[in-house]
Amino acid sequence: MVKLKLFNNIYKDKKVLITGHTGFKGSWLTLWLILLGADVVGFSNKKKTTPSLFKVLNLKKKIKSYTGDISNINEITRIVKISQPEIIFHLAAQALVKKSYSSPIETFETNSLGSLNILIASEKSKKLKAIVMITSDKVYKNIEIKRGYKETDILMGNDPYSASKSCAELIINMYLKSYKKQNVNISITRAGNVIGGGDWSQDRILPDLFKQWSKSKTLKIRNPNSTRPWQFILEPIGAYLYLGSLLLKNKKKVYFQSFNIGPKKYENKKVIEVIKHVKKNLSNLKYSFLKDKSKKEAKLLKLNCQKIYKFTKWKPVYSFKESVESTTFWYKNFYNNETNNFDYSINQIKNYVETARKRKIKWIK
Ligand SMILES: NC(=O)c1ccc[n+]([C@@H]2O[C@H](COP(=O)([O-])OP(=O)(O)OC[C@H]3O[C@@H](n4cnc5c(N)ncnc54)[C@H](O)[C@@H]3O)[C@@H](O)[C@H]2O)c1
Repeated sequence: MVKLKLFNNIYKDKKVLITGHTGFKGSWLTLWLILLGADVVGFSNKKKTTPSLFKVLNLKKKIKSYTGDISNINEITRIVKISQPEIIFHLAAQALVKKSYSSPIETFETNSLGSLNILIASEKSKKLKAIVMITSDKVYKNIEIKRGYKETDILMGNDPYSASKSCAELIINMYLKSYKKQNVNISITRAGNVIGGGDWSQDRILPDLFKQWSKSKTLKIRNPNSTRPWQFILEPIGAYLYLGSLLLKNKKKVYFQSFNIGPKKYENKKVIEVIKHVKKNLSNLKYSFLKDKSKKEAKLLKLNCQKIYKFTKWKPVYSFKESVESTTFWYKNFYNNETNNFDYSINQIKNYVETARKRKIKWIK
């Protein structure tokens, strides 16, 4: 496999710990880091979706993969001690809003206590220089405002998932103020809704859509007019890697900062717009609307991402159209058994990087 040179090759041979490496985002992050020549260690619990991107890409063979519970301090401490990472990406979470209503304790234990545990456990790596903490755009108090939420807005999620992530942010802030070690740099990222190949989580609109399409069934849509800051999976993953590289290089302006990560100019789209775009490349796609609309999800969520653009020059690469197309083509390739999924996914990363370079996007060098 031809390796990619990016971020001044900072990840080459670097020991990287990813929590939540078997999930949707974690698998793409693992894949990209493999391409950069990193020495990846992963820590996740046993639960996987069916199918699972981690299994589809056969990533277990390419990294050191550990199973454990992030809410158990001893389990995560043991892995940090034996792996001695230089950088940690903390993604492990109970990431589903709907499930959080039926499992609030598991959600808080994983998302809030888990964040405290990774920070405390991180002290056992003598080589550690940086941590990228992944929370969510749902940390904000959602008051259905028209302007995008800024990093300085109030943190107060209403549902158990969102509240557990707001709580994680309070914990991170407390840790930085009370225990933070001099030589470890930490940033917090709050990304918007992500679309991309290989997500099979329940009750997420595009995974549900492609699952139904693969069985020639009709998708029933709950809230067609909900708007979200959709972005392609490689946008936040690229942002995590870029921020990580800045932390490793001791760039002071990103230390102890939180950053929204989302599309340009509050480019929000309605659920129905996303689906209509998918249909352009999947003509046999079928959907209908449900009458009993869910009241449990915020209808309007806009993100103001000026801070990360200003502080780091990071910005998204793909347009909305390119993001939906890349996602659709990934699932088409998977369900039609076209080309090998590992090679196809690697090519998606390479195409994304090439497009960024052609567009002279500065953070991808
Ligand atoms: N997907 C999105 O649209 C989105 C948007 C904003 C933020 N996020 C955040 O990004 C991160 C990754 O999201 P995702 O979509 O890949 O989620 P995912 O559900 O696909 O993956 C979650 C990962 O966490 C692991 N995990 C769950 N509970 C655990 C526990 N108790 N101990 C150890 N590992 C555990 C799972 O095994 C899996 O590897 C999460 O922190 C999520 O909140 C996701």
